Amino acid sequence: MPTLSYIGHSCCLVESEAGAVIFDPFITGNPLASLKAEDLPELAAIFLTHGHNDHLGDAIDLAKKNDCPVVATYELAAYCQSKGTQAVTMNIGGTYKDEWGQIKLVQAWHSSSYQEESGNVIYTGMPTGILYTIEGKTVYHLGDTGLFSDLGLIGTRNSKIEVALVPIGDHFTMGIDDAVEAVRLISPRLAIPVHYNTFPPIEQDPADFKKKCKAIGSEAKVLDPGGSFEY
Ligand code: NI
Ligand code: MN
Repeated sequence: MPTLSYIGHSCCLVESEAGAVIFDPFITGNPLASLKAEDLPELAAIFLTHGHNDHLGDAIDLAKKNDCPVVATYELAAYCQSKGTQAVTMNIGGTYKDEWGQIKLVQAWHSSSYQEESGNVIYTGMPTGILYTIEGKTVYHLGDTGLFSDLGLIGTRNSKIEVALVPIGDHFTMGIDDAVEAVRLISPRLAIPVHYNTFPPIEQDPADFKKKCKAIGSEAKVLDPGGSFEY
């Protein structure tokens, strides 16, 4: 069975017999990060939901160190490639399969850019959610998004969503009440809140999210950074 670990903010690691993959590896400078970037296992692929600095994070260094691809929208993966990484350039609606599993990009309502150290802001294409399937089980990382009704379509079209990683921080993404509605629309087996308590503007009580999910008949699990479970 695959194991999902929450590293903190939007960063999650999935380990299976097919290898380890990581979503949004913002580790250096992440006050919640449960480990250091150099302490990660060997990675087979790096998935980015969008280019914002709190998501791209250590992706370029990790992709070079592990000699593995950054998988993301065309603009974002090509940007990483221009910095010396391997890349799988995709776009919304598309599916890609590799030894490490299957990935599909879906829409998210947000924005996407990367600010370089010089202050230059680079446009990095559309933001996305990511469906990652391994061993017949799908994890849906919603990325940064507001609520939208097509989450219901994504849930219907992908009926085996085991785990949904749902942003609850508000301010930049959905807050708790909209996140609970997102869970209702997607109907995953389990919802895990992400993208909260990293910085003051996104302070939230994940127990409130869990309670409100329970009230609509959905199960949520709060993982502290460093927490993991098999699914
Ligand atoms: Ni963002
Ligand atoms: Mn973010």
